[in-house]
Amino acid sequence: MSISNKMINFVGATSIALSLSFSVQAADMPMPFGGKDSTKYASDLWMVMEKSSLVGPNAIMSTPYEGQEPHGAFLDTIDTKVTVNGHSGFLIIKRNYGGEGVSKEDVAEKPNKFLGAVTVMFKREKGYDTENKDWFYVKYDPKGGIMKNPKGAALAGRVAKGMDQGCIACHMAAPGGDYVFNFDRTR
Ligand code: HEC
Repeated sequence: MSISNKMINFVGATSIALSLSFSVQAADMPMPFGGKDSTKYASDLWMVMEKSSLVGPNAIMSTPYEGQEPHGAFLDTIDTKVTVNGHSGFLIIKRNYGGEGVSKEDVAEKPNKFLGAVTVMFKREKGYDTENKDWFYVKYDPKGGIMKNPKGAALAGRVAKGMDQGCIACHMAAPGGDYVFNFDRTR
């Protein structure tokens, strides 16, 4: 009886200590991703892409190719340079298509019907995330809403910096050390 009471006290004290240290950290440091600054930036970026016909119903596209997890069954990747809030940077847009029995022809014919998500990497200003080559990541739904991870964090910003899974952890392994799998042009 007394042992289990002590255990409960111990667990209670630990969770209070953890939540205290979390709130101190949240007040002192900008969130690596999912915070207001990141979601605002992601919305600004979407508007720039929409104006340039890079996303939305009339977006230009390239030939879809067969993809792999965690991106879609079929993918279509384009890149260009855009300016967001006065900063010009390299932009890579990967559209992720999926659906029951979907084929390459289906995607080429009706891209909007099979579009599941739009994943984007945008090269931010120097110093944004020096140790990860200053990439800003976003996962949008087809209409430009920012998608969330299972814990409810918005997937925009330095996603998920310092964690062993997620955009940065996986893209870190891309050949050439530039965090980009398909080419090394951004180095
Ligand atoms: C488990 C590994 C993994 C994770 C996690 C991952 N990616 Fe990728 N990503 C890849 C691979 C592999 C490719 C190249 C695939 C291809 O285009 O055929 C790629 C390609 C891309 C590209 C095209 C540029 C390039 O690197 O060739 C973008 C943009 C992209 N991913 C965005 C994201 C975003 C945003 C996230 C997080 C929401 C994310 N990725 C999470 C593995 C991953």
